[in-house]
Order: sequence, then C-alpha cells, then structure tokens
Amino acid sequence: MSQRTLVLLKPDAVRRGLIGEIIGRIERKADWTISALELRTLDRQILEQHYAEHVGRPFYEPLVEFMSSGPVVALVVEGERVIEGVRALTGPTDPIAAAPGSIRGDFGTIVRENLIHASDSEESAERELKIFFPSFA
Ligand code: PPS
Repeated sequence: MSQRTLVLLKPDAVRRGLIGEIIGRIERKADWTISALELRTLDRQILEQHYAEHVGRPFYEPLVEFMSSGPVVALVVEGERVIEGVRALTGPTDPIAAAPGSIRGDFGTIVRENLIHASDSEESAERELKIFFPSFA
C-alpha cells in the first residue's frame, strides 16, 4: 500500500550534522521516494498547528521552544507502508528506550532532542502534509 508521510529532521539533527545520515537511512529503503524537501526555521504559528493535539500538556512549551530554536528539514516521503516504516526506523519517543539500530537509539539521549518527527497515522500524515506542503497535499 503506497502512502505519503511527513518527516521533520529536528533542530538537534541539523545542528549535529546528521541530515545526511538520517536521510540516507530513509533513501536506502527499497522503493521509497523523497518527493519534497525543504530547510526552514519554524515559527510558533506553524508549530501550534502542527502540535495542536498537545497544547496544554507539560511538554508543549519546551517542545515548541526547541522546535523553533533552529532550522529543521521537512520532507515528504512516499512509498510502501512508509508511515509505519519511518516510525520503525525512528524508534520510540524516549531515545534511551529506543533500540540500537533505530535513529533515536543510535543518536539520542534526551527526550526533547529526539532528532526526528514522523507522522503516526494516515490521518496525521494528511493533516501535517497540508500544513508543511500545502501545494502538495
Ligand atoms: S503522546 O502522549 O504519545 O501523544 O506523546 P508523544 O508522541 O510521546 O510525544 C508528542 C510529541 O512531544 C514530544 N515530547 C517532548 N518534547 C519535549 N520535551 C519533552 N519532555 C517531550 N515529551 C514528548 C515528542 O517528541 C513528540 O514530538 P514529535 O515531533 O511528534 O516527535
């Protein structure tokens, strides 16, 4: 089943020079395609839309502050079961709980700076793609 997903390489990944490493892991999966890619600094307005479901939670303010602290790389990735697949490459939210071999498991230590966001369902992917790539959705 071919799908599309939104991936964000978070400011820590960009600052640490991990763009190539992370995109390389996505590119090497058979039959997945990167169909849009942009380096941009996110403002509070776009982050409020993107993280709307988390407004008011204790981690919301630190998350928005961190996500606007430097440029991110936003990508659209298309391909076979790509939503589940990128989440599997990413690993769970807490990098210490993430298995070695996953992006967070290999490169992360603290929850806030967990390197990568990936849409968690078809509904989220459609909603998030419209926010980041309106001409694409
Ligand atoms: S939940 O409860 O499953 O919906 O939450 P979760 O998916 O684990 O986390 C939602 C997003 O919040 C980020 N997060 C945090 N950011 C900063 N500080 C803390 N403590 C923190 N805890 C969770 C988490 O990385 C998720 O962001 P995305 O961009 O979706 O990865």
